[in-house]
This record gives sequence, structure tokens and C-alpha cells, in this order.
Amino acid sequence: MDYLKIQGIKSLSGTIKISGAKNASLPLIAMTILAKNSVSIKNLPNVADIKTLLKLLTNLGANCEFQKIKTIVDTTQLTETKATYDIVKTMRASILVLGPLLTRFGHCEVSLPGGCAIGQRPIDLHLKALEQMGATIDIKSGYVQASAPNGLKGCEIIFDKITVTGTANIVMAAALAKGVTTIINAAREPEVVQLCEVLHASGVKIEGIGTAVLAIHGTHGKLIHIDEFSIIPDRIEAGTYLCAGAITKSELKLTNVNAKHLGAVIAKLEEMGSSFTITKNTITIHPSQIIKPIKIVTQEYPAFPTDMQAQFLALATQANGVSIIEERLFENRFMHVSELQRLGANISLNGSVATVSGQSQLSGTDIMATDLRASSALVLAALVADGETKIHRIYHLDRGYDQLEKKLEGVGAKIERLKE
Ligand code: EPZ
Repeated sequence: MDYLKIQGIKSLSGTIKISGAKNASLPLIAMTILAKNSVSIKNLPNVADIKTLLKLLTNLGANCEFQKIKTIVDTTQLTETKATYDIVKTMRASILVLGPLLTRFGHCEVSLPGGCAIGQRPIDLHLKALEQMGATIDIKSGYVQASAPNGLKGCEIIFDKITVTGTANIVMAAALAKGVTTIINAAREPEVVQLCEVLHASGVKIEGIGTAVLAIHGTHGKLIHIDEFSIIPDRIEAGTYLCAGAITKSELKLTNVNAKHLGAVIAKLEEMGSSFTITKNTITIHPSQIIKPIKIVTQEYPAFPTDMQAQFLALATQANGVSIIEERLFENRFMHVSELQRLGANISLNGSVATVSGQSQLSGTDIMATDLRASSALVLAALVADGETKIHRIYHLDRGYDQLEKKLEGVGAKIERLKE
């Protein structure tokens, strides 16, 4: 197993190129199941979760191999419709093949994703919506067994809660359904928007893209032709490096980034004292020498993202006052707190609310990554801790950050990947 050794330093400087968004790539790769051609995808990030989904598709009979510049995914010869436990257990987002497989083949089996480090994360809303579209769903021996031998039918679906992969799954299922599917209370994340835009450009009429009400006009079972497309920049990776600039009080420039997707993150960093220079595809952070405390509540897009909560919590340890951070989406997404406390952070947890009293002088020690974003929060803290920090179990980080240590090294961080 690899670990990261980080020597706390005073400042960074330079430019970081942002990779393609993992959470846009995953549904867009699953979407290739709906294609009658082999699909060319540019700007996929080089992260473990992408390889996992490509492997899942390969197991189903697809032809695909990850290539940084352009990956070709050919699902035209798909033969299998069972997504097995061995893959799904390593990545919950595997559930994204459920909608496309069912709508294309009229049946499929997908292993139920098991427990998750950040919360229960049920998939009841995905299943209920597919049932409303006419599918029969059985849960047997740990698998979702779905069938709709005569195809899925458009209908009105009202999501009780906003769900990102739930919306993506139903949009894909609806793409080949009969008639119009209306999703009310749909997720509006940029990653969902890109999925809808690519489908729309491929001949699936979708109204309301980017709003909470989507109307998807299905093709009545006809596979679609999908032209080459390029994955949008990863707003969470970008947000993480903006926090690296803020916490180390360093000017950093990000390229290949879309500031429009980072509105809530930039607004919070401004409240904490940073200022920004923004162009069409760059963001430069001009950090403040004094970090102000902050109040944050995580919510669905366009509000403040849960995927940035851990990084802001790390940043709040360096603010001059008391910050309050409330996690509203996942019930167990504070596992980084005890690791940050091991570095010397002053944080108290009360249910879904963390109170962070800054400024703490952190000091390096051995700590453990517990989930993807928690891992990056630990990296941020280690950048300003005195001495050396070793972050173990960084396979979590490798699931979603493309060459994090190389990118940070490029702007002057003292960071090394080593073997346990
Ligand atoms: C997506 O997860 C992201 N993953 C997550 O990113 C992100 O944290 C999350 O959305 C919220 O923004 C991908 O895009 C692959 P949800 P998802 O369904 O879709 C509840 C990262 O670090 N819910 O929007 O699984 C659920 O428990 C990851 O990159 C149900 O109750 O999240 C949660 O409380 C981690 N029933 C809320 O809805 C359901 O059927 C939102 O979850 C589905 C969800």
C-alpha cells in the first residue's frame, strides 16, 4: 500500500492544470451503453474509479481501454447484463449502469452496493423511479434484479430527495424509453447537466437542462449515435487546490477550470478573506494573510457542496476564530475530524455540526485517510503542519484525484508517495 509523506512548508506558487471531472465521467461512461457506435471521450481523469467502471463495462463485453487524451468505449457488442459484486463493492457509482442496461436490454442484474464510509447511501429512489417506469424490481441474494421486457415507459417522477446518481440513472433509462419522462426535483449539478447535454446532442430531446424539472423524450428503444465529447473540468479538484492556496497563503493559478461551477466555493473563500482573478478557463487565488472564520451548510448544487466540506474544515483550523460547519447530505461524513484532531486541530462534533476553533498550530504525525475527500483535507492540513506528516491508506485519494502529489509538487510542496 502507498502512503504520502508531506513536509509542512510555508508557501506554494505556480500553476495547476485541473483534470476532467470524475463525477461527470462516471455517468457519461455508463451512458455509452445507450450508443450504437463506439464512443470517443476526451479528458477523462486518470483515477481509479474511472478504471473500475471501464473494467465493469469490459466484463459486460465492451471494448475499452483508458487513454488519457482520448478513450474509446465500444459497448456495441455487449453480451452480459450482470454487474457483479466484486466490482460494485469497490465503487458504489457502479449503480450507474442499472438504468442504461435495463433500458437497452429489458433486463439486468446489478449487485447492491454495500455500506459506505460516509453514510448509508441507499438507492431506493433509483429503484422506485424505475418501477414507476414499468420495471419489475426484485432484490435477491444481494442483487437488484430488474426487468422490463417490453421496455420502459415515460411517466412523471418526483424525487423525494435530490439525488445526483439517481437523476443520472433515470435520465439514461428515460433516453430509450417510450414517451416522455418528467423528473421533478432533479439534481442540477454540472455533472448531471453535461450528461443531459451530451444525450440531447445525440438526439434525445431533453427540456429543462440545468433546472429541477427535466423532460426526457425517449427514443422508444432505438440506440443513439454519440459524437466525441470532452469531460468538463473537475470542480471539486479545483476547489481543493483553491483551499491549498488559501491554507498555505499562496497565490495559485488553476487552468482548465470553469469558475461558474465553483460559485459557492469561491464565495466562501472570499468570505474567508481571499480574492480571485477569473478568466474563461482560469482562476487565480490571491489569499489573505489572515483567514477569517466561516459558517457553512452543505447542500445540493448550486449551494455549497458536501464534497468540499472536509477541505474547508481543514482550512477552518487555520482561521482566526470559530467556524461552524454543518453536513446535511451524509450522516457520517466527518471521519477526517479525528485525524485532524491527531494533528492538533481544535474541533468539536455535535451530530451533523462541527465547531472548529482556530487558529491551531498543527504538528505532523501519522494519520489515516478514510474516504476520498477526507483524504484531500488531510493533505491540506499536512501542508501547514509543523514537520512531517504521513498519510496512510491513500488508495481513497487515488479514486478521485488525478496525480495529486505530482500537481502539488509542481507548485513547490514537499510531498512524496512511498510504499508502506
Ligand atoms: C454523488 O453521490 C457523488 N458521486 C458524490 O461524490 C457526492 O458527494 C454526492 O453526489 C452529493 O453531491 C458521484 O457523482 C459518483 P446522492 P450520490 O444520491 O449520487 C440520499 C465524491 O467524493 N439518497 O445525490 O450517491 C443519500 O443518502 C462522491 O466524489 C437516498 O436517500 O449522492 C444522500 O443523503 C462521494 N436514496 C442524498 O440522498 C437514494 O436512492 C444525496 O445523495 C439516493 C440518495
